Amino acid sequence: MPSRKPSIGGNWKMNLDTAGVKELTADLVNAVDAATTEAVDVTVFPPFPYLAPVAGALCDAGSQIRVGAQDAWAGPNGAFTGEVSLAMLKDVGVNTLLVGHSERRHVVGEGDTLVNAKLLAALDAGFEVVLAIGETLEQREAGQTDAINWGQMGYGLAGVSAQQMAKVTIAYEPVWAIGTGKTATPEDAQKAHAAIRAFLRTGLFNDAVADAVRIQYGGSMKPGNAKDLVGQPDIDGGLIGGAALKADDFAAIIAAARATA
Ligand code: 13P
Repeated sequence: MPSRKPSIGGNWKMNLDTAGVKELTADLVNAVDAATTEAVDVTVFPPFPYLAPVAGALCDAGSQIRVGAQDAWAGPNGAFTGEVSLAMLKDVGVNTLLVGHSERRHVVGEGDTLVNAKLLAALDAGFEVVLAIGETLEQREAGQTDAINWGQMGYGLAGVSAQQMAKVTIAYEPVWAIGTGKTATPEDAQKAHAAIRAFLRTGLFNDAVADAVRIQYGGSMKPGNAKDLVGQPDIDGGLIGGAALKADDFAAIIAAARATA
C-alpha cells in the first residue's frame, strides 16, 4: 500500500480571543514537537485577526506547525471591501488555504464555481489547498454520498493539473457529523474515502495522483475515535474543529495519526 504522510488540520472556526489564541498557540508549541511535525503535517486555521500573531509566534518558537486561512478572495488586491487577498495572507506567513468548507457552502452560500476559483487562485499563488467536500444528512439518506462527493470534487478541481495535485488535500466532512458529536463509523468513512480515491484514480486523474493525495476525515473527530478512523486504509488524517481548540485533545489526535505512519 502506498505510504502517505498523515495530515492533520485544526480549524478554529470563529472561536477564541487574543488571550485564548496566545494560550492555545503556546500550548501547541509545547505539545507538537519537531519529531511530530516530521512525521505528520500539522496545520492550524485561526480566524483572520489572529493569523499574523499565530504565524509570528510559531515562527519565533521554531515550530513547523503550518498556518492556514479559512477563506480568501480569489483575485488580486483592489476594491473588494471586506475581503482578504492571498497576497495579504502570504505576507503574514500563511501558506495554506481551506476552501469548500460546508459552513461556507451551506451557511454563507458559496457555490462550486467560487470554490473552484479560490482553489485555482491559491494554487497559482503557491499555496497548499485543503478542499472540503461532503454530503448533508438528507443526501446521505437518499444514497447520494458518493455522487455529492464526486460532484464537489469534479467542480472544485476543474482546471487543476495532476502536477498541481501535489499541493491539494481533500477533507471529507459529512455535514451531519460536523459539530454534532455524531461521527461517521470508521467503516462508513472508509467507504466514502475509498470512493473519493477511486474517483481521483479513474475519473479525474491517474494512479499516481490517487495514491499520493491525502484524504482527511472531518466531523466530530476526538481523541477517543481518532485511532479507529485514521487506522482505515484511505483515511490519511483529519480536519478537526471542536477538539482542535484544546491543545491536549489536538495533540492526542496528532499522536493517533503519527502511530499509523
Ligand atoms: P468538528 O470537529 O467540531 O465536528 O468540526 C469539524 C470541521 O468542520 C472541521 O473543519
